[in-house]
Amino acid sequence: MHFEQDIKPLFREQDRDAMNFAFDLWSLDDVSGHADDILGRLQAGTMPCDGAWPDERIAVFRHWIDAGKPA
Ligand code: HEM
Repeated sequence: MHFEQDIKPLFREQDRDAMNFAFDLWSLDDVSGHADDILGRLQAGTMPCDGAWPDERIAVFRHWIDAGKPA
């Protein structure tokens, strides 16, 4: 599991643009720093604003956190 390869591609350009006011979804440092908040929103189904992710997609993000958020 690696950020560039497995995690960054989960976030669309429109996700990045919409969330730039808070953090950069294409930045390892930003996503690492806000990982718990991001996971919480994904699990609650309140983000992305235009449709919740399927469980398998959320699981990829959660596994990356569990793996220690590797670069
Ligand atoms: C996978 C993609 C996305 C993730 C992980 C995500 C995550 C988050 C998180 C963690 C917050 C809370 C930020 C804070 O309070 O500091 C937030 C807020 C917000 N997001 Fe997103 N977001 C995503 C996509 C989008 C999209 C596509 C839109 C719609 C254009 C959007 C609109 C907003 C807005 C307006 C807020 C502020 C209002 C609120 O807290 O609900 N986000 N998002």
